[in-house]
Amino acid sequence: MNDVTTNPFRGRGLILAIESSCDDTSAAICADGEILSNIIASQKIHEQYGGVVPELASRAHMQNIVPVVDVALQKADIKLAQVDAVAFTQAPGLIGSLLVGAQFAKSLALSLQKPLITVHHMQAHVLANMIDEPRPSFPFLCLTVSGGHTQIVLCDSPYEMKVIGETIDDAAGEAFDKSAKLLGLPYPGGPLIDKYAKEGDRKRFAFPEPNIPGLNFSFSGLKTSILYFLQAEKNKNNHFIEENLLDICASIQQRIVSILLNKLQKAAKDTGIKNICIAGGVSANSGLRNGLTELGNKLGWNTFIPKFEYCTDNAAMIAITAYYKYLRNEFAEITVSPTARAEW
Ligand code: KG4
Ligand code: ZN
Repeated sequence: MNDVTTNPFRGRGLILAIESSCDDTSAAICADGEILSNIIASQKIHEQYGGVVPELASRAHMQNIVPVVDVALQKADIKLAQVDAVAFTQAPGLIGSLLVGAQFAKSLALSLQKPLITVHHMQAHVLANMIDEPRPSFPFLCLTVSGGHTQIVLCDSPYEMKVIGETIDDAAGEAFDKSAKLLGLPYPGGPLIDKYAKEGDRKRFAFPEPNIPGLNFSFSGLKTSILYFLQAEKNKNNHFIEENLLDICASIQQRIVSILLNKLQKAAKDTGIKNICIAGGVSANSGLRNGLTELGNKLGWNTFIPKFEYCTDNAAMIAITAYYKYLRNEFAEITVSPTARAEW
């Protein structure tokens, strides 16, 4: 295993990977661990509902999956017959969405007579850090922050990962999206808070930091305090949000980022690990990216942030994870099923 971890591109294998766990349909091709294409079709339909509607997500995956796979093959200049293995996200996620990707991948593997590889979505977010140079060396810590998860993962190798801290209620992405909703912003509000925060004063409003022991996180108290704060201010001035939007966004972002980075700092101290990565959709947040870089410089960390398209849900991260499994012949039975929840 050591030679796999020091030289991740050893071995061979052309892998077609599919990701369909939530509301993005994605397909990627990787050869010898190098990503040749990564196509993502996002589903706009959910915006009007203020959140992902599972039934609509499954239907959109059904419509998107064939064209997305076709474009991924074309962009990589690969014929289906050349594929050595087919990979898909098995868990966790919305079960109807996962089933579309799983059935498609299984049918493809069966018809091509090629091995099938199952991938854990959260492990794949962590290993997105292994796609491009510079790659972290093992062991590293990864703060995985998405719409559904907030975890600190201790990663000893591509095959050995352990969750050492996680949220006890909302995920960081939910904290962004729910705060945005309270401000009347459309779903998903995280990127909009980020955009407005860039022009606001992050010290203007002080939202409380929860006092949660150990490496776990909590964001539900923050949401409640924002709600009460906005209600009180709107009672005094009905235009409070419009007049102060930039500063409110900057202050909310500042608090979410500080909650994340304080726990990450504690994890680094507890474990003595200085290779620190972030992953997941919220790692696209500019406040978190800048904050991590600043903290890393101060504490002598080696910090790693994947390219934007590998932060949000994507099949390239499924492909790289599948590649490591391919090197060890870790193949799945054709009867395998996806599951909404999954232990590590
Ligand atoms: O990893 P991801 O694409 O999907 C899940 O597996 O959940 O993460 C989506 C989450 C959403 O909550 C979205 O608002 C958040 O990531 N997000 C951001 C930013 N870009 C995406 N949150 C804050 N700032 C951003 N720039
Ligand atoms: Zn995700």
